[in-house]
Amino acid sequence: MDKYNISTKDQYNSIYKDSITNPEEFWSEIASKNFIWKNKWDTVLKWDFKQAKVNWFQGAKLNITENCLDRHLQDNSEKTAIIFEPNNPKDSSEKITYRSLFERVCKMSNVLKEKGIKKGDRVCIYLPMIPELAISVLACARIGAIHSVIFAGFSSNALATRINDCGSRIVITSDGSYRGEKIIDLKGIVDDALSECKIVDTVLVVNRINSKINLVDGRDILLKPLLKNADKYCDAEIMDAEDPLFILYTSGSTGKPKGMVHSCAGYMVYTAYTFKNIFQYQPNNIYWCTADIGWITGHSYILYGPLANCATTIMFEGVPSYPDFGRFWDIVEKHKVNQFYTAPTAIRALAKQGIKHIIDKDISSLKVLGTVGEPINEEAWNWYDKNIGKNKCPIVDTWWQTETGGILISSIPGIIDSKPTFATFPFVGIQPVLMDSESNEIIDNDVVGRLCIKFPWPSIARTIWGNHQRYVNTYFSTFNNMYFTGDGAYRDADGNFRITGRVDDVIIVSGHNLGTAPIEDVINEHKNVAESAIVGFPHEIKGNALYGFVTLKDSSNVSDNTKDEINKLISDKIGPIAKLDKMQLTEALPKTRSGKIMRRILRKIAENDFDNLGDISTLLNPEAVEAIIKNNIR
Ligand code: WTA
Repeated sequence: MDKYNISTKDQYNSIYKDSITNPEEFWSEIASKNFIWKNKWDTVLKWDFKQAKVNWFQGAKLNITENCLDRHLQDNSEKTAIIFEPNNPKDSSEKITYRSLFERVCKMSNVLKEKGIKKGDRVCIYLPMIPELAISVLACARIGAIHSVIFAGFSSNALATRINDCGSRIVITSDGSYRGEKIIDLKGIVDDALSECKIVDTVLVVNRINSKINLVDGRDILLKPLLKNADKYCDAEIMDAEDPLFILYTSGSTGKPKGMVHSCAGYMVYTAYTFKNIFQYQPNNIYWCTADIGWITGHSYILYGPLANCATTIMFEGVPSYPDFGRFWDIVEKHKVNQFYTAPTAIRALAKQGIKHIIDKDISSLKVLGTVGEPINEEAWNWYDKNIGKNKCPIVDTWWQTETGGILISSIPGIIDSKPTFATFPFVGIQPVLMDSESNEIIDNDVVGRLCIKFPWPSIARTIWGNHQRYVNTYFSTFNNMYFTGDGAYRDADGNFRITGRVDDVIIVSGHNLGTAPIEDVINEHKNVAESAIVGFPHEIKGNALYGFVTLKDSSNVSDNTKDEINKLISDKIGPIAKLDKMQLTEALPKTRSGKIMRRILRKIAENDFDNLGDISTLLNPEAVEAIIKNNIR
């Protein structure tokens, strides 16, 4: 990344200017200098936000795995690509070299091909954070199959919905997973899910927890013997720049999850370039992102971005609290981590423990700290800066989304200063704007507005799998000719952006996006529930937690277990992450005269802010508000 390596503030300013004035030249230069292509593009960019059509590097041919693996073999075959750190610190970690990763990916590619998987087929991957997850993802990319990784904390129902939506006939899973002291029966969850997925004919099973695996005849196959016999070389499929690379589901405010589709070339170029610059990654640095590969952060900044830069990237199977809350710092000390990237919810959970788990650890290798997933509050920011960064590591507060593929707004260590709670400035090539409620662009500074991006960048999602119209409606219809992020933001007098949070009915709980409507739908399935409404309220560790207001059909028929039953239903149908922290049974929900639930008022009640309910006299049933306040659970 020569000419456009960002290493001073002046350089950032001039590169930024270039990237905006001549975006095509700019991205074309980055793409041609830093990657290997089978064929160069005919057109750098074609776009039309009205129809939500964006094409980058059209006509180019490539395979992303040749950029992440093959090209490093000549000089760096013995360099560690992935350090696998298992759940239990007593088990040894595993260093996978670029050579070995290449061979294991090729073997997996050959297994998939032998099972009849070919270019364009979808492959669902439901695995814990073990090397086979990375290898499966890359194997799909190698043969041109579209991977769809499903976070292994999702329930069977959520898994089935995603398998069916993308029409995958194969699932890669494991017998189980370790999470701290818990063992989770992943295979059992897959078996349940597949009773709803008739098209799945093959399940490849990794043996992780050494359990006795119940293999369904004719469908389930243990992966290990297949890999053992597979050839360690596999040609990379030649892909068009715009062929889909993967699908990754994200919650919408309504309806079923959205399968965001990312394509090969633009995604590769953008994730690699942002990784290198935002983390200021130098050869031989050890980089660790604590996310799960089930989320976009893991896709872009555990796998593709780092591997395209020939980096050493850590994959951690466990949780921050096992065997105790010092585990993260043990890992930093053990592997001499230089860049550490995590989420505010983890920082808050660790801060709550004080510094007893840090003082005896040598974490002096750290150079750059990152945060992502939700707004970081000032207290957590300061704790991170002082106790982990020792006031000498710049913090990159990176704002982005599943849909954006890579980081769009962030400081850059030593180049754009960090500012507590601010993501700060747009990365080069990114044109963020704030819009007011009349759909006008707000030009001034020191203002709040809805955050939009007015020009495409290479890793913008191309569509929602199977539903392009929903893509248009969700992201390109609110504001004319703009990509609407769904977030609100404040821009300070100097032009720094602070993301204030979602402006739609998505609530971010511990960094996970949860749409309220799908959870309400599940609650309403309970036989005694008439209706329900969910809102978020501030939570010390999770950032936000869920508060459910639930009206029963027959309130004389409330068993002690009703609330537990409702949470169990949510856990079974969506996953434990969507369980309600608080639940209040209500006689009725406040409604407008046109029958809409007044969530604004419920939000205030959940926040204990009874003085700012606004005018409730225009409601259809103001007495409902009074009753809710009277019975409020706090
Ligand atoms: C929020 C995660 C504030 C935001 C990469 C966004 C953030 C949503 C930040 C996307 C940040 C992400 N500061 N808010 N640094 N990063 N968000 O799709 O609301 O899981 O729209 O992608 O997380 O979440 P997603």
